Amino acid sequence: MQIIVVKDKVAGGKAALKVFAAAKARGVKVFGLATGGTPETTYAELVASDLDFTDSISINLDEYVGLAADHPQSYAYYMHHHLFFAKPFAASYLPNGLATDPAAECARYDQVLADHHVGLQLLGIGRNGHIGFNEPGSPFDGTTHEVALTPSTIAANARFFARPADVPKRALSMGIGAIMQADQILLEAYGSDKAAAIQAMIEGPVTTAVPASVLQQHPNVIVILDQAAAAKLSVAGQASA
Ligand code: PGA
Repeated sequence: MQIIVVKDKVAGGKAALKVFAAAKARGVKVFGLATGGTPETTYAELVASDLDFTDSISINLDEYVGLAADHPQSYAYYMHHHLFFAKPFAASYLPNGLATDPAAECARYDQVLADHHVGLQLLGIGRNGHIGFNEPGSPFDGTTHEVALTPSTIAANARFFARPADVPKRALSMGIGAIMQADQILLEAYGSDKAAAIQAMIEGPVTTAVPASVLQQHPNVIVILDQAAAAKLSVAGQASA
């Protein structure tokens, strides 16, 4: 794992842009994308850059169950608002949160992943160590599945919704097995509320109790952290950029 510690989220976005540019330069055509507060500065940097994705495919990690693509809190809407409006891809895939048959939708998504090998996978991390919406206990070989979000994830997401009751309780998520198939993984984390999860991910045991700890077993992972998210790492003092 390559750990890059930066001053703040803005600097993190600039560091992430370099990772995307390097991936483009070596011919990556399939990008696994993430949502949430974390990648906002990365997408801002991509939008401001001269990188062109019209020859590329994007595959997002997850989507809320019950939200239409044009719902302002859906991840489809998020992706359009933060990236696709300025940087269209040849094709962009997200799970369909309105699918009437979630099992069939998960199978469709697994076929999308089988058809397109991800070259660079962008990830955030939950306060409980989740990646995508793979909550603690998710199997490391998991495929796309419907998830009951944990109370801590629902609470963390509540800031994006007008009323707590509006926060979706379920999601469709790529499994950890598919995430681990990516050639390279870029995980970003900012803020002190991620410090414990980052410490467990990097320095703790590999355990399904901390889904992100599986990344210790991936051969090509770059982690971009601000100082607050890196604060609990014993190596934090040596890793800086
Ligand atoms: P956040 O979410 O970027 O909104 O903190 C990250 C995650 O839960 O994976």
